[in-house]
Amino acid sequence: MKNINYQDLSPIQKDLLAEAEKAMEEAYNPYSKFFVGAALLTLDDQIITGANVENASYGLTVCAERSALLRANVMGKRMFKALAIIARGDNFNTNEASAPCGACRQMIYEASQIAGKDIEIILSTTNKDKIIICTIKELLPLAFGPRDMGIDVTKYQK
Ligand code: THU
Repeated sequence: MKNINYQDLSPIQKDLLAEAEKAMEEAYNPYSKFFVGAALLTLDDQIITGANVENASYGLTVCAERSALLRANVMGKRMFKALAIIARGDNFNTNEASAPCGACRQMIYEASQIAGKDIEIILSTTNKDKIIICTIKELLPLAFGPRDMGIDVTKYQK
């Protein structure tokens, strides 16, 4: 886990964050008014984005990260090497980079076992003044995943 300056990100990391930033504006967030954007980078360098989608029955809310993962699945993509996440409030910028919630960490971990890769996660404040790079294994140590269920992950790789 490390802090990094925006200018030290690679071109693809900057692109990923830019796509997450665009997706953030598509949040459906009438209840929290909190905007979150996520962008997944596939092993073959395709970017697939998501934004949070809320519901009047609050608990049904889908976070940006899971929205991106679900969208990617329908697009035939299950293998990722990186994920960028950015957030903002209704009328305020975040002071600290928002990290994925526990449910999202569990789903990102599933994807990491399918890909056989520890997914890099780029977390950014709204104005990109604080950026953290970490991995899903760091965010969810000692995790439970498809391999623990005896799943042959190679069958689900695409
Ligand atoms: N949210 C995300 O989209 N991702 C996270 O990892 C944390 C929370 C969303 C869910 C809800 O729409 C709003 O942020 C406030 O929790």
